[in-house]
Amino acid sequence: MEPAIKIRNLNHYYGTGLLRKQILFDISVDIHPGEIVINTGPSGSGKTTMLTLACGLRTVQEGSVRTLDTELNGARPAQLVRVRQNIGFIFQAHNLLGALTACQNVQMTLHLDSTISTRESRRRAVELLTLVGLEERIDHYPRQLSGGQKQRVAIARALVRRPKVVLADEPTAALDKASGREVVDILQKLAKGQGCAILLVTHDNRILDVADRILTLEDGHVSSFASGIGSNTEQLSTAFVRMQRKGELARHLHELPDGEFVDMLGTMTEEFEQVLGAMDVAHAQTTNALLDQVLEVTAERISHLLSAERTTLFLVDRRRGELWSKVAQHEGHEPLDIRLPVGVGIAGKVAQSGQLMNLADPYHHPDFNPDTDRRSGFHTRSILAMPVTSRAGLVIGVVQVLNRRGQDSFNSSDEQRLGEFAPSLGIILETCSRVLSAASADAV
Ligand SMILES: Nc1ncnc2c1ncn2[C@@H]1O[C@H](COP(=O)(O)OP(=O)(O)OP(=O)(O)O)[C@@H](O)[C@H]1O
Ligand SMILES: [Mg+2]
Repeated sequence: MEPAIKIRNLNHYYGTGLLRKQILFDISVDIHPGEIVINTGPSGSGKTTMLTLACGLRTVQEGSVRTLDTELNGARPAQLVRVRQNIGFIFQAHNLLGALTACQNVQMTLHLDSTISTRESRRRAVELLTLVGLEERIDHYPRQLSGGQKQRVAIARALVRRPKVVLADEPTAALDKASGREVVDILQKLAKGQGCAILLVTHDNRILDVADRILTLEDGHVSSFASGIGSNTEQLSTAFVRMQRKGELARHLHELPDGEFVDMLGTMTEEFEQVLGAMDVAHAQTTNALLDQVLEVTAERISHLLSAERTTLFLVDRRRGELWSKVAQHEGHEPLDIRLPVGVGIAGKVAQSGQLMNLADPYHHPDFNPDTDRRSGFHTRSILAMPVTSRAGLVIGVVQVLNRRGQDSFNSSDEQRLGEFAPSLGIILETCSRVLSAASADAV
């Protein structure tokens, strides 16, 4: 699915000549239909600037902004108008007209469209005001409404045209905690119902959990995943759950070119470590789910890069003296759960010796254990198995690739490639072990 908003390498400058100052630096972001992205960051970091560029309220100077399939860089005024008509805006100040009732304020937007009769516009305005819980206030004037109620009218107004994109700049800033929460809940419900993309700028940490993704701007740069979620651990777990549910991370990883993947994995694993340092056991479970996604994509990448048919990632459970398959690529729908005592089978030997093994003809090797082949209906022709060590040098896992395509066995450059994954896999598997032992300690 095409993103509703696709921003690439966006730079922006204010002022001219000597006063010219760069405000946004190389921003790239996608926002998909049905997704809520929260844009947060310190005052002056460029949030409003980015928002106004995304909706064509400000001229794009450098880079690409594609909103609703229209390139806004260089767009003609008529194109910009068309794009803006499909966007709902909600600002900190609700901008309601005091001389009009709640209903008339909402209807006003529909009157831009001459095909909609007054009766129809009233019907739709009432429907939206009811959805935001203002059925009792339809014919009230703004001065008769509380701050939260006025903001809800503004939301009804933004959504009544069923926009494909909603841009909201600090919609809860003027509201108390309860009204702020109500407003974002309504926004979320309506947006999900209408499948629209929402970009919501906020300083308000209390609402971060409605986000499918959090984008943090610092001095005009998009800052990293971990520093972005910062120290707000209360919201952290919810944000993680959502990211995991939507497969956001996996999607992102899938899109990366092969070359960037290993680097990305390295960066991300460092960030996982930081995140984990700030987490208790409840959050650990969610992190585990996130790590699973990373490991699955990593297994796929390893297979792809080494032209292998399958990759299995084993974790070593020292306490039980066994290896178990954290990720095992295979054909069936049920996860393939492989357990081996340390020292048994090729992976078990590698776990025991800490030495890499590269076999051209495993069925003739004394340590090869054909049980898994029997269970899964696979036929192993070649194996490359590498130990994964913790930073302290302990073997904590084994990565095993099977069946080099087009060749009898894996060669030395395959060994080298696999070696490139070792440091990242080490950190991820170490994190997994820590999360699992934290969780099992908690269960006792
Ligand atoms: N029209 C303008 N002309 C010159 N500079 C501007 C203009 N608008 C904003 N700026 C500057 O650009 C920077 C980013 O402003 P922007 O309004 O995008 O920040 P913001 O992240 O929305 O901040 P806040 O959280 O306070 O709303 C700030 O340093 C601001 O002073
Ligand atoms: Mg702003």
